[in-house]
Amino acid sequence: MPVIAVIGAQWGDEGKGRVVDLLAEKADVVVRFSGGDNAGHTVINSYGESKLHIVPSGIFSPRAVCIIGNGAVVNPGALFKEIGMLNQKGVDTSRLYISDRAHVIMPYHILLDDLEETSCVDRAIGTTHKGIGPVFSDKIARRGIRIGDLLEKQAFREQLHFILEQKNLILTKIYGASPLLFEKIYEEYVEYGKRLSPYICETTAMLDEALRAGKLVLLEGAQGTLLDPDFGTYPYGTSSSSIAGGASIGSGISPNKITKVLGVFKAYCTRVGSGPMPTELKDETGDLIRERAHEYGATTGRPRRCGWFDAVAAHFSHRINGFTGMALTRFDILDTLPVIKICTGYKVDGKTINDFPASIAMLGKCVPVYEEFPGWRAATCDVRKFNDLPSAAKKYVKRLEELVGCPANLVCVGPAREQTIEKSPAI
Ligand code: IMO
Ligand code: MG
Repeated sequence: MPVIAVIGAQWGDEGKGRVVDLLAEKADVVVRFSGGDNAGHTVINSYGESKLHIVPSGIFSPRAVCIIGNGAVVNPGALFKEIGMLNQKGVDTSRLYISDRAHVIMPYHILLDDLEETSCVDRAIGTTHKGIGPVFSDKIARRGIRIGDLLEKQAFREQLHFILEQKNLILTKIYGASPLLFEKIYEEYVEYGKRLSPYICETTAMLDEALRAGKLVLLEGAQGTLLDPDFGTYPYGTSSSSIAGGASIGSGISPNKITKVLGVFKAYCTRVGSGPMPTELKDETGDLIRERAHEYGATTGRPRRCGWFDAVAAHFSHRINGFTGMALTRFDILDTLPVIKICTGYKVDGKTINDFPASIAMLGKCVPVYEEFPGWRAATCDVRKFNDLPSAAKKYVKRLEELVGCPANLVCVGPAREQTIEKSPAI
């Protein structure tokens, strides 16, 4: 059975949750392998519309075991809120497990994320203020607290004491903020540990067993390739690896066991937060896409920047991830447009380039070169077979396949599960 990594191929918000929810009907295990509650995965199914931030989007499937992997970070308060929301809808969360190696988002991470962003407004990343940069910095700097640590009361006490002393120095001496109180945090997080204990386990052993039994495993990405710390528009990105390579690191599944990598692309582009986006449309077409698609962040409610499909960035994304196929989401949003454009190159300093630059200074100067397509101007939301799409729509998909370099497995023509065209098998 395959292990399929579902990867955000652009700047996040591509519809990974929607795709995972669909594929999870057939999956045995779904693992969230990176990020934290900075993610916002909107899923629409028989339970209505749900916005998931840390719980894997496979939770609605009655049989899939869901794992928050070692590569993800957990805010326990936010997790319990989400579990409560799901239980209220009648969703069974007893199949949820959390890696004992996943790091914990602590109150000082959130505070420092706020202070770092507000103290340098002109260089702000535009983060989600969920403590993501600070928690992953601490992980790498070996100052982090892991979920499993919450169960060892005495060791946790000493560890938190040591870390909080340093954090309070930063809070008071650098930012002039009030120090945080040790006992309050300690008590709160020991209590979280108790409540989390039924969920905590050695998830790599569970996954190993699942693979040996030939089960179908989905690895659910968060954020997107162009927000990845190595390959994204650094420093305007997130702090954990959102690419296919990260799926192995963040789950403990060996790279040689991942059999498929499904790249999730919107049929256009969006970005939320700061940083360059060459195809951004600051005009009425951009506004039209935003309103028609309701492009507002699921986590922060911020309006998303909208633009044409960037095939230069998409081809780069394919190079990094090795997509075996793509899922093209929000395709129906383009239904009303008279003309649709794809960016196939950039003009910069009088030259045309076709490769996505590492430098954001250069990317900021890039002017897109576009190929234009006549719009199909017909509703696609009820189409279920690729051949039934208007011919202009088929042309657009085929050109994207050529430019990105991999076949489209799925074309999503609406938010509901059934509004999906399976052009070729994704599993
Ligand atoms: P999903 O999983 C879109 C962006 C933020 C900001 C940058 C850093 O729903 O696709 P962070 O809080 O991670 O330190 O913010 O990354 N960002 C996302 N943009 N979708 C997401 O997740 C995102 N998660 C973070 O807007 O620009
Ligand atoms: Mg999102």
